[in-house]
Amino acid sequence: MACPGVCPPPAPHLTGRSRRIARPTPSRLAKANQAPRPWHHVWMRRQALIATAAAGAGIFGYASVIERNWFALRRYDIPLLPAGARPLRILHISDAHLTPGRHRLLSWIRSLDALQPDIVVNTGDSLAHPESVQPFLEALGPLLDRPGVFVYGSNDLYSPKPRNPARYLWRNSTLHPSRGEPDLPWAELGAGMVAAGWLDANNKRGRIKAGDLDIQVGGVHDSHIGYDRYDKIAGPTDPAADLRLGVMHSPEPSVMDKFTEDGYDLLLAGHTHGGQVCLPWRGTLVTNCGIDPVRARGLHRHPADSGDPGRPWLHVSAGLGTSPWAPFRLYCRPEAALLTLVPRIS
Ligand SMILES: [Fe+2]
Repeated sequence: MACPGVCPPPAPHLTGRSRRIARPTPSRLAKANQAPRPWHHVWMRRQALIATAAAGAGIFGYASVIERNWFALRRYDIPLLPAGARPLRILHISDAHLTPGRHRLLSWIRSLDALQPDIVVNTGDSLAHPESVQPFLEALGPLLDRPGVFVYGSNDLYSPKPRNPARYLWRNSTLHPSRGEPDLPWAELGAGMVAAGWLDANNKRGRIKAGDLDIQVGGVHDSHIGYDRYDKIAGPTDPAADLRLGVMHSPEPSVMDKFTEDGYDLLLAGHTHGGQVCLPWRGTLVTNCGIDPVRARGLHRHPADSGDPGRPWLHVSAGLGTSPWAPFRLYCRPEAALLTLVPRIS
């Protein structure tokens, strides 16, 4: 039929061609679904990439902005003292890796004096910048008026270098021979703590009074870079001391074996950062030294499988900071620990 004026296009179901379009039977639909649809794969791939990138950015943002500044205070009671003894509070700090701009970290360290520890132990890696000594000492503030002990870590001597942050997953950070002379003011840091009365335990023994206790201290410099000289402190500990405290930066089992043989009661170390990047269902992945991942943070015994109550307790701090070139923590909050020594359970 002729139409007046402009004719609309014929409806598809009225054309001869459209009448030949096959009806969508199940077999035809299945055949159509098997046909390649490149536009679909490209779209899916793009969406997956966008989702992965967004998830990665979100995790990195959380790890570097939130968790890295989400400081935790761990508390442990350790039954080490004779019956009737007054408890002794040890504040264990480690691995601040301080750069001058880390105001949240500085203010959190400053707040730790409110715990009123009887003694402070710093197991090293306090610095990450040549101008961090004064901010670190000022953050310690009134803690310096309390009895204290310290050892160095490699990062007190050598400034951090940029490197692939994932590198530590497959190799440790042992000092490269090309580093040469230390370039950080480790001696100035040590002088500040010694001037306040803290005991320098780098390859040294000493005696310190804290609370009601006479504490024998033995410590080594960082074994991770081969600066430990256990032979300088080797020998049986004094049974007359109320407590025998071994201090080191890196919890290297071979070094801890020597402390154990000499009769130390409690070993304190840092260095591992608890693994720094952990998985919720797996925990610590790497320790950056010889200790097993299970003992990379927290309170354990040494040796690990020892059921002997005469073997020393071991506390490994997950540390307060990170290298400025790996500024994130995941499932491993920065921490300090308050270790309360209490009478042994009879
Ligand atoms: Fe460290």
